[in-house]
Parts: sequence; C-alpha cells; structure tokens
Amino acid sequence: MTQQTVILAHPFAAEVMAELAAGFRLIVPAAGRSLAETVRAEPAVEGLISFLSDPVDHDLLAAAPNLKIVANFAVGIDNIDVAAARARGIYVTNTPDILTEATADLTWALLLSVARRIVEADRFTRDGRFSGWQADLLLGKELAGGTCGVVGLGRIGSAVARRALGFGMRVLYTSRHRQPDLERQYGFEATDFSDLLRRADVVSAHLAYEPELHHLFDRDAFALMKPDAIFLNVARGALVNEAALIEALEEGRLFGAGLDVYEAEPVISARLRCLPNVVLAPHIGSATTATRTGMARMAAVSVGQALAGRIPDHLVPEWSRQHPSPPAPG
Ligand code: GLV
Repeated sequence: MTQQTVILAHPFAAEVMAELAAGFRLIVPAAGRSLAETVRAEPAVEGLISFLSDPVDHDLLAAAPNLKIVANFAVGIDNIDVAAARARGIYVTNTPDILTEATADLTWALLLSVARRIVEADRFTRDGRFSGWQADLLLGKELAGGTCGVVGLGRIGSAVARRALGFGMRVLYTSRHRQPDLERQYGFEATDFSDLLRRADVVSAHLAYEPELHHLFDRDAFALMKPDAIFLNVARGALVNEAALIEALEEGRLFGAGLDVYEAEPVISARLRCLPNVVLAPHIGSATTATRTGMARMAAVSVGQALAGRIPDHLVPEWSRQHPSPPAPG
C-alpha cells in the first residue's frame, strides 16, 4: 500500500519524527527550500505539520489538493488562514493545554527577572564589578502586595494568575468571557481594559492574536499604565505597538518589560535591545523538553487521526465556527 505523505515544516522531537516516519512517507523541507516550495513539489501531501513561523495561506493550501490536515505545532494559529482551510475541508489543529504550565512559568521567569533586575545583576557580577554588599545596589520592584493584571484569562492567563497568588499579589483580569468560577475560587477580579491598565502593577498579555486586537497595547494603553508598572508579552508581538512600548520605556514611564514575542519576529528593534530595563527572550514560552515533545506528539496524533478519516481531537474552535464567507486574502 502506498504510504500517505506528511510534510513536517522543520525537524522537531526525534522520537516523534521516528514515529511519524514509521507510519507515513515523512518529508522535511531540504535546507534552503521553503515550506511552500516543498508543498508545491509534493502534490500528494495529505498531512502538514506547520510551525508558527510558517504562513499557511490560501496559495499554499491551493497547491495541496489532497491535504486533509494542517496540524500547527503551537497553540496560536494566527499563521494559518483557517477560513481558507475550512473552505477546502482541511482540518486545522493546534496544541492546547499541554504548553500552559511551561508558558506560565516563562511569564513569571520574565517577570521576576525584570522586577529583580536579574539580567543586569548577572552582567554586573560576571563583569567583576561586585565589590561588596551595598544598601542601594540594583534595587528592584517588590511584587508582594501588588496587583497583577492579566489581559486574557484563558488557559495560560489563568495559570499566570494562579501563580500570582503564590507571590502574594491580587489579580485583576479582563477577558472576553467572565470566569465566575475562578473569581470565586481564587478571588480574581474582572474589570475593563482601561481600569486594569490604571490599577495593575504588572500587566501581562495572554490573548490569542486576531486582527481586531492588532496594537491593542498602543500609546494610549501605555499612557494609562502606572509609571512603575511592568509589562509582559508572551502571546504575540502584533498585540503591541512596539514603537509605543519603546517610547514609554525610554521615557521612564514604565519600570520595565519582559518580552518573548516581537512585532517583526525574529527581527528585534535595536532600540529595544539597548534598553537595560527589558528582558528579551527568543519566543521560548513552551520550550521545555517535556512540553515540546508533548506538542510534537499531539500534532502527530492529530495527523494520524485525520489521515485515518477521523475528526481530530484538537480541531481549533475557529474551524468549526461558521464563516459566512472566507475573509479577503491578506
Ligand atoms: C507559541 O507561541 C504558541 O502559540 O504555541
């Protein structure tokens, strides 16, 4: 029997690649060859495992007449034209839940690093500048007793908020849907976006990117924030007007920022890189061995389900929603 063809956009966990190769004709784009070129060269492809850095647009989908599934190796799916996939009957899946705790940990790693100036402190110490205990050396920002503002209380947002309680912080949140159970259980307080910005000592973005949310954090948003607030983004770069954030940081209108994602990823503005009060990570929210292996397996299972003629478990909700007509390309 001819094996079904699966394209994996980039190598990932070796053990999961071996499992995929045992069941399918597995193709990984050759060095220097783009995903789109690889798909065009393999019209028999039935399964595609994409990364968040791979645009899966109308043209790519049109080049794969036999494609049954795009399994994104990420929870965010803003790189995929879901409406175009759905119009062609191609399933779109993601990797929810499994990366929640790792991403919440990374958010807190950034927060603690910014609040306690860990990157500056590390550099200072390595540079041999530590000449003895000083009362005013590298003073940071106290978190206990402060307010953590979580914008988007979904899976990752609520995991970040739960951690805030352990650090003695109150939690304010905004969300598309109220979360009365979490309010009761943990004392989280729902409010609107402007009120959260005004009252929070830490503002952390946990929204899935949608075009309506483009530059949600703009000049006005940063102007509302407390002058010693910390801003965190581990969600998507385009939620933030990066120029406005840089201005606020340069003008001392924020204590600092911790970022894992960028507007023009992987390009990072030189102005941002020069600021001492930001901690920058290269989009590693879910990057633990256990989580990335679990995500790889989840994507592989989704491909297996779709190629066996089943509806995959992790079909994204956007796929099932009715789109009266697919959005215009671009
Ligand atoms: C990471 O950003 C993801 O969406 O999984």
